[in-house]
Amino acid sequence: MNKLKICVAGATGWAGSELSRGIFDAVDMELVAAISRSNAGKSLGEVIGIEGLTTPIFGTVEEALITSPDVFVEYTKPDAAKFHVLAALKSGAHVVVGTSGLGSEDYDEINGVAQEVNRGVLAVGNFALTAVLLQKFAEMAAKYIPHWEIIDYAHSDKKDAPSGTARELANRLSKVQESQLDVPLDSIDGSKESRGVRLHGSQVHSVRLPGYIISLDAIFGMPDQKLILRHESGSSAEPYVNGALLAIREVGKLVGVHRGLDRVMKF
Ligand SMILES: NC(=O)c1ccc[n+]([C@@H]2O[C@H](COP(=O)([O-])OP(=O)(O)OC[C@H]3O[C@@H](n4cnc5c(N)ncnc54)[C@H](OP(=O)(O)O)[C@@H]3O)[C@@H](O)[C@H]2O)c1
Repeated sequence: MNKLKICVAGATGWAGSELSRGIFDAVDMELVAAISRSNAGKSLGEVIGIEGLTTPIFGTVEEALITSPDVFVEYTKPDAAKFHVLAALKSGAHVVVGTSGLGSEDYDEINGVAQEVNRGVLAVGNFALTAVLLQKFAEMAAKYIPHWEIIDYAHSDKKDAPSGTARELANRLSKVQESQLDVPLDSIDGSKESRGVRLHGSQVHSVRLPGYIISLDAIFGMPDQKLILRHESGSSAEPYVNGALLAIREVGKLVGVHRGLDRVMKF
């Protein structure tokens, strides 16, 4: 069997190290390169504690891409992500983006390059199955219920806001319709910031407090009834592994930027 050759940028991080374990255990994949600035020159197994995992860690994307991966996984930070993704596409790799914080304009630019080089990019704000299903169910609800708001909750030191999952959800709901506001933001008495940010036609609120990990509410309201969809994940990075492995296996069938794991799921 020809194994898929994978490079993981951010392989020593919280999410990337759990994914690297998953790739190491997958019979159809080979982890050929890892990227981490502070561990360059070491083997990944030595850093994340997996015996037999000899994947070299590189300090830069250029060095890592010399291993010619079929699929590049971006799991670092928003400030490095776009540069990594563009470099990986130009090297001939398909790309899975797990890093949150890239905006629509970044993805427009990435899409231009991906189309040019005939490669796929699958960007998934949240690989957890319950988050993916929330998005799917919310799209169904938005067809029938025109009033909704999105609330994303996370730990106090999460820098990006709204979360990637909340941005992705707002973007997807905009394809159904924009949420209705009975009082336009300009007509608010008091502080209109208290109504959250208007993002792709949804009101989005971000709560950042100790005690929260990651969760997301999509609240749909109708006269005298409401629907509350909630995704919650715990403190391990395990929920994100299976979804990311699926994305890695399927991204080679795509061309251009696609957002959301359900693009490669069967319903
Ligand atoms: N899509 C999803 O389901 C999902 C799930 C979990 C997390 N995330 C997102 O994934 C990203 C990573 O989260 P995390 O919690 O794993 O972060 P983390 O624990 O801080 O790990 C970040 C990793 O990226 C590397 N890194 C950081 N900046 C870099 C740069 N400029 N160049 C090269 N490598 C760099 C770090 O190594 P060095 O510092 O040694 O370079 C480390 O390996 C975040 O955007 C997070 O929101 C998404």
